[in-house]
Parts: sequence; structure tokens; C-alpha cells
Amino acid sequence: MAIVEKASKIWLDGALRPWDDAQIHVLTHTLHYGLGVFEGIRCYKGKDRSYVFRLKEHIDRLFQSAQMVLLDMPFTREQLMQGCFETLRANNQQEAYVRPLAFMGAGEMGVGSMSNPTRISIITWYWGPYLGKEGVEKGIRCRVSGFRRMSNHGFLAKGKICGQYVNSILAKREALLGGFNEAIMLDDDGFVAEATGENIFLVKNGVLRTPPYGAQILGGLTRDTVIKLAEDMGLKVTEARFARDELYTADEVFLTGTAAEITPVREIDHRTIGSGAPGPVVQKIRETYMAVVRGERPEYERWLAPL
Ligand SMILES: Cc1ncc(COP(=O)(O)O)c(C=O)c1O
Repeated sequence: MAIVEKASKIWLDGALRPWDDAQIHVLTHTLHYGLGVFEGIRCYKGKDRSYVFRLKEHIDRLFQSAQMVLLDMPFTREQLMQGCFETLRANNQQEAYVRPLAFMGAGEMGVGSMSNPTRISIITWYWGPYLGKEGVEKGIRCRVSGFRRMSNHGFLAKGKICGQYVNSILAKREALLGGFNEAIMLDDDGFVAEATGENIFLVKNGVLRTPPYGAQILGGLTRDTVIKLAEDMGLKVTEARFARDELYTADEVFLTGTAAEITPVREIDHRTIGSGAPGPVVQKIRETYMAVVRGERPEYERWLAPL
């Protein structure tokens, strides 16, 4: 995991501040109980300019997450989108990861607190491939986690909610300490849900399969993008549940996420997947995805917000 490289400014509560001044008090409510919501967005450098990928949908999801947990948002969607642009420009970044975070500030303490002000920060920094350059080129090694994906009975899987990430962290640490790159998590019924920060696809006999949107998964925007790109390429995509047995015997498996982009999986629980190298479908999808985000495919311009 790379250390975040300091940039010049951070957007906090509506204004750009010097990077080192974006500090919070230890009484910040979210620090204690985890009720906050966030997004992960990427800005890519194209030939002539940079583009923020699916910015509107990311900000919409931020507001949906806030709605789910009853967090008042003191800024509009438009103001936050402008905040993302302002931060990227102030940091002179043509390519960056963009992290809006809405959290409960200091004031009341206790689980029942409701009067604390919502504070919002937008941080931008350069972030290379989340699962490593080698992972993208050769594929990563995964384990099926002993930690289940958080249950719909107690959590809100469709929300990108700070505290819920403890579930991901437990699975990720278990995987890393066991010598794997990433964890794949099962749902309450033993079906494959997703990875700790990525959705999952398998390819069998040329058909793509991914757990349905209604499963215990985050509704990933990269997942949605891949479904559309694959269908436009003439590939069949089905949204259906599968267990780990079908993962072990898939021709190809890959993960999708804003941070991880499209990352092939070459091994799961010591079983080699397909040929043990990135297969033709994932390679084609990755190539297309990278061209789309860099503005090289005019037919997908609707997903790009020029910086
Ligand atoms: C748990 C989880 N699943 C899936 C994803 C992928 O979502 P997206 O493609 O919108 O980045 C993420 C990343 O945000 C995530 O945290």
C-alpha cells in the first residue's frame, strides 16, 4: 500500500485549505463510531485534457449513502462536483484519485447523537493501480475469506459507509497475512459476493457472470461500466449468484473497482484459474476500459466530466 503523497490543498467544509491545515478534533464523532460516507473517484489524463470518470454517478451514490444513514448534507451535489474540480486544479493534478468524505463532526457524543454538524472533505492524490502493476499484468492471488460479507440483516451494503469497511479490513488483513493479494467474500448463503473493495466477475465459455445488483454487494460503477462495455462488444453478461466451486473452475476471473480498475485474478485458494495468466476477455475489457476513461472512445463521452 502506497503512502499518500502530500499535495498542496484539501477542500474542507466548502473552502480550499493548505494540506497541513486540514485537521480534525479527536472528538469528531465519525472517528469513534464510523458513521460517515465517502466516495472513490478517478481523474484520468487524456490526450488533450483530463476527465473525471462518472463523477455525477459517484456524487449521486454519496448522497444515496448519506440518505441511508440519515446524514444531513450541507452542500449540494453541484457544489461537491465543483469542489472535486477545484481541488484537482489547485493541486495541479491531471491524474488523481478523488476522495470526498462526509462525516459527523464534534459536539454531542454517544451513539444517539444527531445534532453534530456534517463536515465534508475532498482529498485528491496520485494513486497507481490499487492491486499493483504486477497484479494488473500477471493477475493476482486471492483467498476466499473466513469473514462473510456483512449481512443485509444488519448493514447497508449498497452504502459506501465508513464503519462498514471494518468488514473489508478484516478480510483483507487475513488475506495479506496469508500471502494473498486480495480476499473474496461470501454472502450469508455461501454465494460469492465481492472482494474487499471490488466487485467480481467470472468468465465461463465466453459468458460473463457477476452477482446480481441486489446481492450483498456495493453497486459498483466499474461493475456497471464493464457490463455495458461487454454487452457493446457483443459478449453475453448474466447477473446470477454462484458459489466458490464455479469460481475455481472458471476460465477467467477478474475484479472491478474505481481504485483497482480491471484486475485479473490468476489463482484462488491455490487453484489456478484458467491458464494462470490474464485471459482474452479480461484483457480486452481492461484495454477498452482504459481507453474509455482517457477519452479515447467518443461513444462513451457521456461518462466523462472534463476537468
Ligand atoms: C466494497 C466495494 N465493492 C465494490 C467497489 C467498486 O465500486 P466502484 O466500481 O464504484 O468503485 C468498491 C469501491 O468503491 C467497494 O468498496
